Amino acid sequence: MKTSAPGKIILFGEHAVVYNRPALAVPVTQVHADVDIQDSASGQIWIHAPGINLQAELTALPPNHPIGSVILNFFTSLNLPLPAAGFDLHITSSIPVASGMGSGAAVSVAVIRALASHTGYSLTDEQVNQLAYEIEKIHHGTPSGIDNTVITYGKPVYFIKGSPPETFRVGKPFTLVIGDTGIPAPTKESVSDVRRQWLKNTNHFETMFNEIAQITLIARRSIESGKPEMLGELMDQNHALLQEMTVSSKELDALVQAARSAGALGAKLSGGGRGGNMIALAESQNAKTIADALQTAGAKQTFITEVH
Ligand code: PMV
Repeated sequence: MKTSAPGKIILFGEHAVVYNRPALAVPVTQVHADVDIQDSASGQIWIHAPGINLQAELTALPPNHPIGSVILNFFTSLNLPLPAAGFDLHITSSIPVASGMGSGAAVSVAVIRALASHTGYSLTDEQVNQLAYEIEKIHHGTPSGIDNTVITYGKPVYFIKGSPPETFRVGKPFTLVIGDTGIPAPTKESVSDVRRQWLKNTNHFETMFNEIAQITLIARRSIESGKPEMLGELMDQNHALLQEMTVSSKELDALVQAARSAGALGAKLSGGGRGGNMIALAESQNAKTIADALQTAGAKQTFITEVH
C-alpha cells in the first residue's frame, strides 16, 4: 500500500501565527513524501528511509525519534496492538529538509495514512491532522500546527492556531517561484528568539503581529476575489516586518532582492527564516527568468508552482 503527502509553503503570517494571528499556506504538489508499507513475516517493524540514511528496527530507534514516535502514537492513540507479524515501512521524499516546505509533517501524514490503510482503519482528516501535530511538537517545540494542517488537507488554508482550519477559494490561479537558500532554517531557534524579543518589547511586537494579521487578511481577500497581483506589495510589506523581527538573513534578502530585480511582483522569506526558502510572485511568463535570477544569486534549488 502506497501513500503520499505534498510539501507546503507559507504565503503570509509566519511567526505571527504563533501568537494567534492568521497565516496563509498552500500545498506544493511538485514535491512529496511517499510511503510504501509491506507485510512482513519477521515479527519486526522495520523503517527504511534511505534519504536520511535510516534503516532500523522500531525498537532500536531513540525514544523521541519522529518516525518511531509517529508509529507508536498511531497504535497507542487508537488503542491498537502493534501488528504481531510486523511490517516494512519504506519512506522516500523529494521535499527539501529544513527548508520550510514541511518535509517532517509530510512524512508524518504519509506514514499515518499508510498505517491506517494497513490496519484497515479509516481516519478522518481531523484525526490525521491531530496525530501529525503531536509529531510536529517533537520537530519544532511549540509549532502553530500550520504545516500538518495544510499538508493533511492538501488545499490552501487560512489558519488560526486552535481554530478549525478554513480552506478557501482561489479566484484566479497565480504563479510562485520558490528559492531555497540551501541553509537549514533553524525554526525552533528563531521561534524562541522571537519570543525573547516579544517578552522584552511586547508592544512593538504586538503591533507588528497586528500589521501582519492585516496583511494576511487582505491577502486572503485578494486571492478569493481573483486579484492575486495585489499579493506582490503585501509580500514586500510582510518581508519588511520579518526583517524587523530579525528572522531574515543576508542570503534570504539577497534572493528576495534578486527576484524583485528580475521582475517579480513582490517577494518575501517563507517559514521560520534565517535560512530555508523565500517566495516570489511572478507573472507566469516571467517565472523562469526569476528562477534563473535566483539560481544566479545563490539559490540551491528553485521551484515554480501554480496556486489554484
Ligand atoms: O519553517 P516552517 O515552514 O516550518 O514554518 C515555521 C512557521 C512559524 O510560524 C515560524 C512557526 C510555526 O510553528 O508556525
